Order: sequence, then structure tokens, then C-alpha cells
Amino acid sequence: MPHQQSSIALLALVAAAALTPHAAAQKILSCADVECPIIPAGGRVAKCTVADKTFEMVGISQIDVGDNDNLAGLSWTKAVTAKDKEDNGKKTREFEQLFYLGTPLGFRTDGMRACALFFNKVSDRVKFGNDTTPVEIGQGTCGDAMTSNCVNAILERAKSVDLSGFRDTDDACERLEKEFEDNLDAACQSFATGSKWVDVEAEGSDDDDDDDDAPQPIVGDRNSTSNCWPTSTKSNDLRLVYDRDEDGDFLAGTANKNFFGITPVLTVFFPRNGTNSTSSAITSVEAQLTCVKAIDLNTALRDSLSSGNDESAASGPNAGVLGIWAGLAAVVLAVILG
Ligand SMILES: *[C@@H]1O[C@H](CO)[C@@H](O)[C@H](O)[C@H]1NC(C)=O
Ligand SMILES: *[C@@H]1O[C@H](CO)[C@@H](O)[C@H](O)[C@H]1NC(C)=O
Ligand SMILES: *[C@@H]1O[C@H](CO)[C@@H](O)[C@H](O)[C@H]1NC(C)=O
Ligand SMILES: *[C@@H]1O[C@H](CO)[C@@H](O)[C@H](O)[C@H]1NC(C)=O
Repeated sequence: MPHQQSSIALLALVAAAALTPHAAAQKILSCADVECPIIPAGGRVAKCTVADKTFEMVGISQIDVGDNDNLAGLSWTKAVTAKDKEDNGKKTREFEQLFYLGTPLGFRTDGMRACALFFNKVSDRVKFGNDTTPVEIGQGTCGDAMTSNCVNAILERAKSVDLSGFRDTDDACERLEKEFEDNLDAACQSFATGSKWVDVEAEGSDDDDDDDDAPQPIVGDRNSTSNCWPTSTKSNDLRLVYDRDEDGDFLAGTANKNFFGITPVLTVFFPRNGTNSTSSAITSVEAQLTCVKAIDLNTALRDSLSSGNDESAASGPNAGVLGIWAGLAAVVLAVILG
């Protein structure tokens, strides 16, 4: 199918403009990859509904878990949307960011607890690529966005916190949150907005607890309203772990930050208090930092790129492709933001 091939070639060009070679192995997936439905059909905007949430763009990042087979195949999905509201005659815009944990079929949680820490306010230095990289399609890993020294400092600090001995998972996660609210490692100084990390929020998960707050997989009736399943492997379960609303103004910079800002997510897995059996899914603390952001690409944009730009694909220059993409993407954002 020549059409499909040229579309892949063009996408590769758009991606290559933003990718460093190192990051290529860890591509952040977009709505084009998971085929979010385009609504209305023939339009340019994806509308992905999962249970009772609807959003237009996603970014899906694998959690790099090293050698631990029990934790293989995990990913974070960040989904974004915005709506305009009126409060007492005053117009405001509300941005929503949703974070889903994707877990593979048969993911074992026995004996395991988990905390996710969301670094919601990081400095502008946390970014992919350089000043010429469009923020909408910037790609990479936390090492690219905030140096491997800072990543390692965060992981070391996370592992140094004693999370055993807490009756509730949430209390352990709050302890972890406090550790990062109180301490900023030297290697990370330029990536925080002040002398400390601010707006760090922890969410806990323990499937064995009688904890009604713990994020549950979206299945059965709850999933009947979904038209979309934005995770790296179709058979994954999705859990909505964190839902964040923020009021903002109508400036383009605010929209860009809320739609395409990078959120570093620290995921820490640790044994339940008292667990030390070998049947447990985990016996020691595992910590990973994953940088997740939405990518401005969907199947309609991809198809427009491929049908409109076969010649520049052949001749190679990707500035032309980027220009066309930028025009189409701007239209999409304008439609979303009204
Ligand atoms: C920015 O990154 C691109 C792609 O990696 C590269 O071609 C370009 O030279 C860089 N520009 C600057 C100013 O560093
Ligand atoms: C589990 O927590 C209790 C307090 O809730 C503590 O007394 C006990 O030592 C803890 N067990 C382990 C193995 O940490
Ligand atoms: C949920 O619904 C979506 C959309 O119909 C479907 O693709 C996905 O497989 C479903 N997932 C589960 C776990 O039921
Ligand atoms: C852990 O296992 C060891 C040996 O298997 C046992 O002696 C110890 O009591 C166990 N500790 C807990 C907290 O279950």
C-alpha cells in the first residue's frame, strides 16, 4: 500500500525532527499510534473517551523497569483537554490533565504497594530537544529532559526513604511526597521552579488493601462508554491514577504549557508491610522516573501530512513537512480551544 508507506515516511520525518538518537528507542506514543477516533468523522480533532473522561490528545511513555520481569510492560498515559467556563460573567479556561497507568494482562500485584509522585511544576528547562523543536511533538526520556544526573539523584532519594512499617499505603506515599517537598538535589536545581520542588503530589495504590480510594482497572460496565483505549498494548488494563484541573488564561503560552508540558512521574513499587515471601510480586524497592507529555498527532493529521506532501518526502527536507504539520496542528488546537 503506497499510501500507507508514504505516511509512515512522513511521520518518520516529523518524528526525526524532534528525536535524539538516544530517545528513538523510547518513543512517546500519540493518538495516531493508538487510533483515537476522529470526531466528527472527516474532521481534524480526535476525541478519546475513556469511561467518563473525554480528551483530545495523549502521550504514552513506557516505564523503564530494568530487569524486573514482574514490572515489565507498564506505561503512563497523559491525556489532556480544556474547556472554557463562565464564572459570574467572567470567562476562564480550565485545563485538565489525566494520568493513567497501563498494566499488562496478568500484572501481579500480590504483596506489592505502589506510589506515584507527580512533579506538576517544573521549570522551563525541562524540555525535549532545543529551541527549534516544536513543543507539540517534542520527544525523549527524562534523561534527555532533565539530565541523567538529576534522574539518578531522584531515584536514589526515592529508594533511601523507608516506606516499610506504614499501615496505609497512602501514609507511605505521603512520606515520599514530603521527602521531595523538603529536599531538592543539587543536580536537579535548575529543573525546579524555586529552591524546592513545588506542587508534588502523591497517589497510592495497593490492590490488596480494603482501600476504596485505590485506583481500579477500568473494566466491564465502567468501560461501556469508552470509544478509545489509549495504552501501548490493546490488552492492557488502564487505571486512572491522577486527575488534575487547573484554571488558566487565554494566552497561547498557557495552552502550550498545559497541553504539551512535561510531567516527570516517579513510580515507586515496594513490598507490603510484613511481606517477605518469595511469592510476592516484589521483594525490594523499585523506583523509576518517567517523563510524560501529550503529543500533537492523530490519524487525521497523519493522513493530511501524507496526502499533501509526497514530494518533500522524496526530496528529504523535513522543514517543509514540519511547516505543513505546524499549520494543521494549529488548526486542531484552535478547534479544541474554541
Ligand atoms: C536543534 O536540534 C536539531 C535536531 O536535532 C538540530 O538539527 C539543530 O541543529 C539544533 N539547533 C540548535 C540551534 O542547536
Ligand atoms: C508493620 O507496621 C507495624 C505498624 O503498623 C509495625 O509495628 C511493624 O513493625 C511493621 N512490620 C514491618 C515488617 O515493617
Ligand atoms: C474498553 O473499551 C475500549 C473501547 O471500546 C476497548 O478498546 C477496550 O479493549 C476495553 N477494555 C477493557 C479492559 O474492557
Ligand atoms: C521473613 O522470612 C523469614 C525466613 O523465611 C522469617 O524468619 C521471618 O519471620 C519473616 N518475616 C516476616 C515479617 O514475615
